[in-house]
Amino acid sequence: MESHGNKTGLSNYHILLVFFAISFPFSHGQETDTVGYGYVIEAVTVNLPTKSLKAELTLIKNSSVYGADIQNLNLLASFETKDRLRIRVTDSQTQRWEIPQEIIPRQNIPHDTFKPKSYIDGDGDDSPVNHRALLENQILSSPTSDLVFTLHNTNPFGFSVSRKSNGDVLFDASPDTTNSGTFLVFKDQYIQLSSSLPVDKSSLYGLGEHTKSTLKLQANETLTLWNADLASANLNVNHYGSHPFYIDDPISVRRGQSTGRD
Ligand SMILES: *[C@@H]1O[C@H](CO)[C@@H](O)[C@H](O)[C@H]1NC(C)=O
Ligand SMILES: *[C@@H]1O[C@H](CO)[C@@H](O)[C@H](O)[C@H]1NC(C)=O
Repeated sequence: MESHGNKTGLSNYHILLVFFAISFPFSHGQETDTVGYGYVIEAVTVNLPTKSLKAELTLIKNSSVYGADIQNLNLLASFETKDRLRIRVTDSQTQRWEIPQEIIPRQNIPHDTFKPKSYIDGDGDDSPVNHRALLENQILSSPTSDLVFTLHNTNPFGFSVSRKSNGDVLFDASPDTTNSGTFLVFKDQYIQLSSSLPVDKSSLYGLGEHTKSTLKLQANETLTLWNADLASANLNVNHYGSHPFYIDDPISVRRGQSTGRD
């Protein structure tokens, strides 16, 4: 985790999540190059029956640092349960490996869920007015959930998740255009996603095992998730996984409203 303060000292701390599959050497001088320039929104479709939203994203500019960027992405946001919003970003053209459904069963939104735009103005089961309203605001909400997903049609794009009941922003992946560390970067072996944290309000726990003096994560810490300590007594089993999961227990917000993200 890293936090970035901006020059004006405003509330601009970010949690930066970086998933780096394999490290490889890069030539001298590349360290200072920009890792990625982010994506813009090409199209958005909302499907009310499945309470889901799909945004088609296009890369703004190539960067070769840590490998080639994926050119087109799909962002899918869906309410899996009343309390669980799933946001999934993946390559829109090439199938990537995912944990098989039989190991972790999860909602599988069929490909034809997001019909062409004409469907939005058509006379399907759901009110076309509703569809339009949702699209204009680029918001996904559900009457049964306290969570609201908002897409930000900025350059580069961003998104945030907030609570209806008190307006708290739980995850804020909107970009700071002066800081490329806040942009979404999606490569075959490198993924970067950052979220702004409210100053002096967040209490973060998680992101792997460590031997630091407190379980509460401190500002500007880098935590590396790397499996180790494989016990040889157990044959043919996997030991210790790395799960990039953290919990935010906001200080000045009433208890019982912690949110977990992975
Ligand atoms: C974070 O830590 C790095 C390395 O220790 C340091 O260079 C940087 O200035 C720190 N940033 C902030 C915002 O404290
Ligand atoms: C990035 O490079 C690839 C390969 O040269 C090219 O096809 C693609 O159009 C470029 N993307 C952008 C956003 O410039």
